[in-house]
Amino acid sequence: MDCDSGLLAWMERELAEKGFAAGREIRYLSETDSTNDDAARMAAQGAAAGSIVIAARQRRGRGRLGKKWQSKPGAGLTFSYIARPALTMEEVPRLTLVAGLAVANALHEQTGLITAIKWPNDILIAGRKVAGLLCEFHGNGSFAGSAAVVIGIGINISSTTEDFPPELRRKATSLVLAGAVNPSPVNLLLSIVHHLEEQVQRMISKGFFSVLAEWKEKDATMGKRLAWLDSGGRIVEGVSLGPDDDGMLRIRLDSGRIVQVLSGDLSLAEDDGN
Ligand code: BTN
Repeated sequence: MDCDSGLLAWMERELAEKGFAAGREIRYLSETDSTNDDAARMAAQGAAAGSIVIAARQRRGRGRLGKKWQSKPGAGLTFSYIARPALTMEEVPRLTLVAGLAVANALHEQTGLITAIKWPNDILIAGRKVAGLLCEFHGNGSFAGSAAVVIGIGINISSTTEDFPPELRRKATSLVLAGAVNPSPVNLLLSIVHHLEEQVQRMISKGFFSVLAEWKEKDATMGKRLAWLDSGGRIVEGVSLGPDDDGMLRIRLDSGRIVQVLSGDLSLAEDDGN
């Protein structure tokens, strides 16, 4: 994304005119380790809710569970958003689902492509991952003071199959590979922020349940067989029953027992993982 200071000022104006979190800061870096780390530093220094840091290239882009997020410069959108919602600590993990729904809706709005969500943080198009989210809480166990949740978002926009590491080529896609015509990174960013702030507001005013109902319409794994690594490192298989009222995934094991998964690396058993 070509982001000179004029473009940043335009984005700030666009967001302010739409009434979203006035006073936000928008920072663009041509290269950094991870925008989630930059956003955490900005949050600790008092950056306003809604502030954003975007990078053309990350040297150490991170995903969940210690995975890497790699994106060829110019082929993706990588940014982190600072949220400071009035939530209890129990509610914080729900933000991953809320943000995932916002990204899925924004990608659909901007491209017309059908998006789905693989619990908790993968956005899929036609069964392949097109975007991922990494939400990290920074604070001392409460939303007092400078506490914030950094929502890191990575989207494959125009990556070709060869841009992905060989082991991901059957599992990953980009908007262009999936059929989007000239998707604009700036419009995608504005749309994601718009949807994100709308969904967070909805969660606060109407309750998580209201967001969850819409999330379930985009659930990519409901009723499907999943395999995942449990906390003891064992591979466990079962059928997804979708998220419960707290956003934790319920899985029915072959024994009939129903377990709740708070975090873990899930793959769809029938298609060799995703
Ligand atoms: C995942 O798929 O597990 C999450 C990927 C999240 C990647 C984004 S890119 C911007 C932000 N900075 C990071 O280091 N990670 C997130």
